[in-house]
This record gives sequence, structure tokens and C-alpha cells, in this order.
Amino acid sequence: MSRKPLIAGNWKMNGTLESGGALAQAVADGAADAACDLLVCPPAQLLYPIGRALAGTPVQLGAQDCHAEEKGAHTGDIAAPMLSDIGCSHVIVGHSERRENHGETDGTVRAKAEAAHRAGLIAAICLGETEAIRDAGKTNSFIIGQLDGSVPEGSTAANTVIAYEPVWAIGTGRTPTPAEANEVHALIRSHLSDRLGADECAKLRILYGGSMKPGNAAELLAQPDIDGGLIGGAALKAEDFLAIAAAAKG
Ligand code: PGA
Repeated sequence: MSRKPLIAGNWKMNGTLESGGALAQAVADGAADAACDLLVCPPAQLLYPIGRALAGTPVQLGAQDCHAEEKGAHTGDIAAPMLSDIGCSHVIVGHSERRENHGETDGTVRAKAEAAHRAGLIAAICLGETEAIRDAGKTNSFIIGQLDGSVPEGSTAANTVIAYEPVWAIGTGRTPTPAEANEVHALIRSHLSDRLGADECAKLRILYGGSMKPGNAAELLAQPDIDGGLIGGAALKAEDFLAIAAAAKG
């Protein structure tokens, strides 16, 4: 089963109209050469202008979070239908920084993913173990718990991507070896196959995230169960982001 790789940039809380606009433009300018799908996830205030700028290009637009409800008294939050209204195709849910900084549980993440699905968005559901869990040899059972808690019934290869992001690798310059990362990806695919069906999971894209850079992308992306990347720091430089995209062969 060949899965077209997805290279996604998570800009986190970075970028102004000027700098974000220039970054998106530079990504769009390099997109024609890419053999993978490209997605940028700017901070909320840039979604609309960058969406306008990317219209007609192959680069897709994603948000970094959404609320589980469709509207109402939730100061500061953005609902999933609002994101599809302004042209988003994807929304990241359950990033470890949201889980950590905003107390999001697996249940919260699952409700947000369900909201994304209802709004016609592709949910990029993030999960990954901390260093303490890894050191305790509990990575697999922890990941299975996160999958069971965070991934809704009704998830398909068309409405969901999974991002495996070991917390200890995010922003640290450290990564698992490609084989270690692939082992977790394979576990994710086989565990979800039991719930969502083997055919669906053969098509499901599972991204790796955590210090993916131009220098290590090719060997990570060459692994059979690694279908792309969720890129933080290296997504803030178009040159690096496009170099990672170039390492993703279709
Ligand atoms: P990083 O972040 O590439 O800077 O490690 C990845 C992420 O948090 O999505």
C-alpha cells in the first residue's frame, strides 16, 4: 500500500502578517516540486490571510487547535466550523503542548477530533510518550491508551491523520532512531486496524514529529510506516521545510 506522504508545518506561536506571509509564499513557491502533500498550520490570527494567499496553490491550510463545541460562550476559543468556513482543511488536536499547557485529556482530544470530523476537517491527532514513560519501558501501553482515548470511532484515512510525537523529542534536537520510531508507528497502525479496520488503516497516514530536520528526514521518512512529518522548528524556515518535503518520496 503506498501512502502519499504529508509534510505538515506546525508554526506554533510564531509569525506576523509580514513574516508569516513571506514564509507561506516561499513554501507555495517551492510546492510545485514536491512529491508529497504539503500543509502549513499558522497561528490563528494568520489563518485567514494565509489561506487567501495559498488559494490556488497545492499547499493546504490547517489550524493548531479547535474547540469541541460548535459555538457559544467560550472566550478565546475557535470552533471547528469556523475553521472550515475560512478555508482550513485540517486541524491539529492533542498536541503535547496543548495537553500540557491547557490540561487537555484524551477525552478532550477525542471530542475535538469529533468536532473536526463533523465540520468536514481532517483531524491531525497527536500523541506521544514522555521521557519518563519511555525510560520506564511503558511506551507501547501508553501509546495504546492514548489511541483508545483520543481517536474517535468513525475515524478514517480520509478524515484523520495520526502524528506520533515523542514529547522528549519535541524541540530538543533528539529523536528516536528511525527503526525505533517505525516500531511505534507500526504498533499504532496495527492497534487501530483492530478498531477501524485493516483496509482503512492500510491507507491511514501516520506522521512522525519531534526534531525532524533536513539532516534526519530522509532516513525517518524511508521507514515503511512513517508517512510524513509534523515539523515544528524547521517549518519556520521555508528552505528547511522544503528540504524535508524533498526527502519525502511519493
Ligand atoms: P519540533 O516540533 O519539530 O520543533 O521538534 C514538532 C512539533 O511539536 O510538532
